[in-house]
Amino acid sequence: MNEFVRFYEENGISPVSQDISDLELHIKRRERLYRLLGIDSRLFKDADILEVGAGSGYNTLVFLLLGAKVDIVEPNPVGRKEMQKLFDNYSIDPKRYRIYDCVIEKYESSKKYDFVIAEGFLPAFGDSEREKILQALLKQVSHNTYLILTTICEFSYFFEYLRIVLGLCLVREVSNFSNKVQKLCVAFKSHLDSLGFASRPIEDWVKDSILNPTNDHFSYSLKKSAEDIRKFSIYNKEVGRFDVIGISPNFILNLSWYKDMGYSYIDAVIEQFDCKKYLLLSTEFKEMNLNQKTIGWLSDNVVQLRLLVHKLRKNVDFSIIEAIVELLQQMSNNCFQLGEFFVESLRECIELLKNPLELTEYKISAMPNFSRAWGRGQQYMSIKAIIE
Ligand SMILES: C[S@@+](CC[C@H](N)C(=O)[O-])C[C@H]1O[C@@H](n2cnc3c(N)ncnc32)[C@H](O)[C@@H]1O
Repeated sequence: MNEFVRFYEENGISPVSQDISDLELHIKRRERLYRLLGIDSRLFKDADILEVGAGSGYNTLVFLLLGAKVDIVEPNPVGRKEMQKLFDNYSIDPKRYRIYDCVIEKYESSKKYDFVIAEGFLPAFGDSEREKILQALLKQVSHNTYLILTTICEFSYFFEYLRIVLGLCLVREVSNFSNKVQKLCVAFKSHLDSLGFASRPIEDWVKDSILNPTNDHFSYSLKKSAEDIRKFSIYNKEVGRFDVIGISPNFILNLSWYKDMGYSYIDAVIEQFDCKKYLLLSTEFKEMNLNQKTIGWLSDNVVQLRLLVHKLRKNVDFSIIEAIVELLQQMSNNCFQLGEFFVESLRECIELLKNPLELTEYKISAMPNFSRAWGRGQQYMSIKAIIE
C-alpha cells in the first residue's frame, strides 16, 4: 500500500468530493477543462475510458453522463463505496462501468482505450514510485489513446506550502484527526471563500491539502512530465512519437503552424518551462520580464520551502519555523519585481510565524492579502501519439 492510500485508509476518508448541486455547472466546468486540452466532450460518447485514481467518482460521473464506458481503478475502499453510491443516485447503468479494487501497477487489461485519465495523484509520489505508476499507465496507451495527466511543482504549490506551515503550527498540539480538521476549517474558511470557483467542501480541502503528507513530494513539473513521456516515445516504437495536445493553464507558446508537420509541442514545453514557471506562483501574475538568474534564485527558494515543510510535518520544531521565516524574509527583501501583493502576502506569513505560540485560527483567517493568495496549483496535460 502506498503512502497516499495509507493516509486515506487510516483516516477512513476520500476527501475529494465536489459540490455538484448544480450538475449543469459541474458538467460545463469539466467540458471546458477538456476543451482547453483539445478534447471536445462529444468525443466521450461511446468512448472507452480507463480512469485511474478516480477518488469518489465525481469526475467519472460526468464521463458516464456524456455517454462513455469507464473502467475505474481505485484502491481506496471509501472512494469505491462513495462512487458506487453516487452512480446509483444518478441511475447510471451498471453495465457502463466497472470498478477495480487495485492500484494501477496491478491492473491488467488488453483493451484499447480511447482515453487513459489520471487526474490528481501522480505528483504525490517520490520519483521511483511515480515512475512505476507512469509505466503502468503507459502500458494501457495505444496509438489512438489520449492520455491525460496532472502535474504540481514547488512553484504552483508555493502558497499552499505556506498554508501547510501555518496549519501545522496551528494544530501542533492537537492529536485527534477530526479536531485538527475542525480548527483548520475555521482558520482557512476565509481563504477558500476568496476563491470564487472552488468546488470542494472545506473539510475535504483541509484533509487533502493541509494534512495529506504526500503533498510534500509535489515536485512533478510539466517539464519533468513531458520529459518522461518523450523518453517513453523514444523507447516505444509500436506507439510512435507522442506530442502534447494541450495544457491548462496554457502558458507555453505553441508556434506550430499548418505547414510545420514536424513541429513538436512537447519539445517546446520542455524548452520554455523554466523561463515561464514563475507564472505558476500566483494567479495574479501576468507575463513579466524576469531574467533567468532571478527565476533560478526563486526556484532554489521554493524548493527549499518544500523540503522544510517535509521536515516540519515530521516534527513541528521551532528551529525549522525559524529557518522558514529566514527564507521568507530573504524572499520578501529580494522579490519586489513580483509586485506588492506577493511581497505583502509573504510579510503577513512572516509576522505570524515569528510568534508561532501565539498563532490562532482567527489570526490566520484575518490575513488581508495572504488569504487571497493562490498559485496555479494543478496543471493538466493531454498527450497523444502523432500520426506520421
Ligand atoms: C487525490 S485523489 C484524486 C481523485 C480524482 N481523480 C480527482 O482528481 O478529483 C487520488 C486518488 O488516487 C488513488 N491512488 C493512489 N495511488 C494509486 C495507484 N497506485 N493506482 C491507482 N490509484 C491510486 C487514491 O486512492 C485516490 O483516491
